[in-house]
Amino acid sequence: MSRSMLITGIGELVTNAEADGVASGQFAALGEAALVIEGERVAWTGPASRAPAADEVIEAGGRAVLPGFVDSHAHLVFAGERSAEFAARMAGQGYAAGGIRTTVAATRAASDDELRAGLQRFAREMLGQGTTTFECKSGYGLTVGDEARCLALASEVTPEVTYLGAHVVPAEYADDPAGYVDLVCGPMLDACAPHARWVDVFCERGAFDGDQARAILAAGASKGLMARVHASQLGPGPGITVAVEADAASADHCTFLTDEDVAALASSGTVATLLPGAEFGTRQPYPDARRLLAAGVTVAIATDCNPGSSFTSSMPFCVAIAVRDMHMTTAEAVWAATAGGARALRRDDVGYLAPGARADLVILDAPSHAYLAYRPGVPQVHTVIRAGRPA
Ligand code: NIG
Ligand code: FE
Repeated sequence: MSRSMLITGIGELVTNAEADGVASGQFAALGEAALVIEGERVAWTGPASRAPAADEVIEAGGRAVLPGFVDSHAHLVFAGERSAEFAARMAGQGYAAGGIRTTVAATRAASDDELRAGLQRFAREMLGQGTTTFECKSGYGLTVGDEARCLALASEVTPEVTYLGAHVVPAEYADDPAGYVDLVCGPMLDACAPHARWVDVFCERGAFDGDQARAILAAGASKGLMARVHASQLGPGPGITVAVEADAASADHCTFLTDEDVAALASSGTVATLLPGAEFGTRQPYPDARRLLAAGVTVAIATDCNPGSSFTSSMPFCVAIAVRDMHMTTAEAVWAATAGGARALRRDDVGYLAPGARADLVILDAPSHAYLAYRPGVPQVHTVIRAGRPA
């Protein structure tokens, strides 16, 4: 029998679950609650007054408890930084996909140990801010060897590893983009597929067009990789159509959507993952979350942590922006950052707290989830528990 841990005196327990313990499609919470963990799993949730005995008791003192954040979109394997590019943008310059190549040069020149040190730093940083599950993409190697090593390194810190050889066409293929797509769909995929669960493509003007994206996702699928797509970040385009056709788990960014895009998402199993850090960091308009929610689209929020467009690893920061500037309610934003992220990764064990769920949770130094947006920029993570253990 594994040891049991009771957390009681919870002011607000965000469960994202129905009364029968099934993960729900919307925010749900209990007041004056308690939760029992056995081993790596949640064993019980309910009113504190009815909590069963356990081997160990933690008194939450009226604090809020949330499912750990699920950050379903991050680019963490890279070297170098681009603060000068950010500063220039804040002084009025635009953002273009081409900046990715600066990071590619630095990443190729870095040793495995340098890349590993960066990954470990970001993994720690995320955990300290309440993120207990995160995805990590390649995409700054763009040679067979560099993409494969970036993915192997990413798999040291997370199981949610994404092959993004199709991030941008590297400089050496500038005159032969078709040749680069062949590489991405052929030898590069062969070397990368064993290290990855997902395949992603940046479907955007300046990166890959709709037909190229379709070919890349189909090649990935033939090796067992499930699809996700960077779509409509910088302007309208075919990315959403491509994502829905491929039954992608998620279409990410969704900043410039047509009515057809919104309708296609609403009638699909594809989550719209909004990345407000990218609009913050590129001074673009935020995606229209209300339009998506009104149409019945499942919405997730993630950081897009990367050195170019969005150098934040903070889910609380993204929740605060989603509430203040994208007009999501505090409940919608917290659901999107937990259960929404889980759906964007097709995970049924995280993003909610009910018997059977993985015991991934955050105790906030605050009485309710709303404080994430109410006190923006203030560290409010009191304790993080991952797979039943204090992290
Ligand atoms: O999601 N859109 C493509 N990839 C990143 C940007 C990466 C970069 O600028 O280095 C993004 O915003
Ligand atoms: Fe991205």
